[in-house]
Amino acid sequence: MYMHEDVKEILLTEANIRKRVKELGEIISRDYQNKNLLLVSILKGSIIFLSDLLRAITIPVKFDLMTVSSYKGERTSGGKVHLVMDLKQEVTNQHVLIVEDIYDTGNTLKFVIDHVLSKNPASLKICVLMKKEKKEPEENPIHLDYIGFVIPDKFVVGYGLDYQEKYRNLPYVCVLKDEIYQRKENLKI
Ligand code: IMP
Ligand code: MG
Repeated sequence: MYMHEDVKEILLTEANIRKRVKELGEIISRDYQNKNLLLVSILKGSIIFLSDLLRAITIPVKFDLMTVSSYKGERTSGGKVHLVMDLKQEVTNQHVLIVEDIYDTGNTLKFVIDHVLSKNPASLKICVLMKKEKKEPEENPIHLDYIGFVIPDKFVVGYGLDYQEKYRNLPYVCVLKDEIYQRKENLKI
């Protein structure tokens, strides 16, 4: 398998992801049979997962995109979330499934859930490709209806996820070599 020189460890291979996304598509297709299903995804990290999941769904389905910004630091999430681009599709009376790349602090999802609920969907569920396993229990955990993988609490890139906008094109999910972060962090000092 092609391995980028900046990669330290591959956590999810292309084959792992393909198999699991197909399973999720089958489960979702079964659960939403005869319902108006609208997938709602958050740019940019989720688009690769969304496009694969869409093709694994075998019932009629629409999708829409929104952009939020949740920046706090280079490799930390959990800052205040802002709406950058709203949904264009009608949400009222649609069964909305939010499709997110990764659940870390849950901060982004909390905002998106409240935003979608304010538009009165027929129902709302959450699908994440990855959930980071935390040592400490969360204070207000969000119920995740579909989880692709539970992964260690590490910063990962690939399959849509970035570090400084790079590595989104890697077809697997991986951890980068420490020096990739150190290089940049040293420059700032
Ligand atoms: P949360 O709000 O802390 O749950 O973080 C969610 C968002 O932060 C995700 O949609 C990602 O865009 C980004 N994020 C969280 N963890 C990672 C990671 O390990 N690698 C790349 N982006 C991440
Ligand atoms: Mg990101």
